[in-house]
Amino acid sequence: MESQETTDLKTALRETAARRREAAYAADPRAGEKLVDQVLHAMTISPGLAVSGYWPLEGELDVRPLLVKLRHLGHSVGLPVVIRKHEPLIFRAWHDHHDLVEGKFKIMTPPDHAPEFVPEVLLVPLLAFDPYGYRLGYGGGFYDRTLDKLRHQAKDKGHHPPLAIGVAYAAQEVPDVPRGPYDQPLDWIVTERSVFKGRDVVIERLPGLRRDLALDFVIANGENAAGGFGITQKICQELYAAGVDCITTGNHVWDQKETIAFIASDPKLLRPANFPAGTPGKGFGQFQTQRGKKVVVINLMGRLFMDPLDDPFQQIDGLLNTHRLGGNADAVVLDFHAEASSEKMAMGHLADGRVSLTVGTHTHVPTADYQILPNGSAYQTDAGMCGDYDSVIGMEKATPIARFTKKLPTDRLAAANGPGTLCGIFVETDDRTGLAKRVEPVRLGGRLSQTKPQLQSQPAVA
Ligand SMILES: [Fe+2]
Repeated sequence: MESQETTDLKTALRETAARRREAAYAADPRAGEKLVDQVLHAMTISPGLAVSGYWPLEGELDVRPLLVKLRHLGHSVGLPVVIRKHEPLIFRAWHDHHDLVEGKFKIMTPPDHAPEFVPEVLLVPLLAFDPYGYRLGYGGGFYDRTLDKLRHQAKDKGHHPPLAIGVAYAAQEVPDVPRGPYDQPLDWIVTERSVFKGRDVVIERLPGLRRDLALDFVIANGENAAGGFGITQKICQELYAAGVDCITTGNHVWDQKETIAFIASDPKLLRPANFPAGTPGKGFGQFQTQRGKKVVVINLMGRLFMDPLDDPFQQIDGLLNTHRLGGNADAVVLDFHAEASSEKMAMGHLADGRVSLTVGTHTHVPTADYQILPNGSAYQTDAGMCGDYDSVIGMEKATPIARFTKKLPTDRLAAANGPGTLCGIFVETDDRTGLAKRVEPVRLGGRLSQTKPQLQSQPAVA
């Protein structure tokens, strides 16, 4: 039973979200047409899947153009039917030749003779949503009960869980939807402006981790944060709000074209320093922690099995001549975004004694070689990814496997949606020298073995 306070909060949120939805609808009543490109660009819905939509109520973002497109692409498409209060929804196929009838709550539904089907992808209407993938519906609990039932059924049969995609105007986002034990999270949120994954493991876990480990500084490589392809301004803001102080990137930095336009105005977002001169953005940043310590973050990209770029080894030498550990910098962290472990190790040794940490990114798998090198710098060949490890480097398995096994064109790669693991490296530095005193891996959530450093003393930088 939820408290009166929570009920009141939900009522207030519903009123606010409904007002914002009305305004967004009035400004762009045909915004639903934009969903077609948004969804088809950002995610792969495997051929032949059963997709349920909804018949929009006045002011709701219209999913019908998307449903029609999906049907043309060979998906079976259906609509929900309310049977009675306190029961899950059922779904009936929707074809053009099925005239809709008015169902309960005056919602248009397929007629009783339309075949019933079990959706594998659900487009879920809502009143408000938050960045964590939680939604506020209309208060009947129909979708929570339905998702709970479908998720349990899939688990019992060993099938993939259904994909729940919340659909709303961007204006319907609120910072935090109150959650109860019956609330079912969404896997993705789609608005007329963007598509993003709910339940992001970094956004969900970082605030607690930052508090538990008394972290002074947090760096995230965000080049795959937008469903596996690049990063958007909105995701940057969410990561900063969750406690990230600086975002590094790599070869996927421009996957979302908007990044080219906003990177120069975001001092916390870096791209590799060895990109050609004149490239928007910058390759290193100087920051100050709340304790007044100066942190320098450098982002470089390797060249082995990667695009040709300026020499990162020459660049690091120049950058470390300017940013001197224990001199004008209390900590220096290098994210070396590279494919080959040999290149990353060579960089680690070259920078040893002149940086607090050299950490590799890009290969998406955490390595077990975290250590303090002979001259005092922490090092790890790859920090691993934050995402679903029941995948091929974060992507749904079927498409990469098909690419390896058949010499045929395949679907576009799509990010895997299972429970994510937050992977990272924790470093405690010496206040005087800036070198590493302690280095430990972090793996939280998802399928990998779990490990979290214990707080022993006050870390200067992590
Ligand atoms: Fe990469």
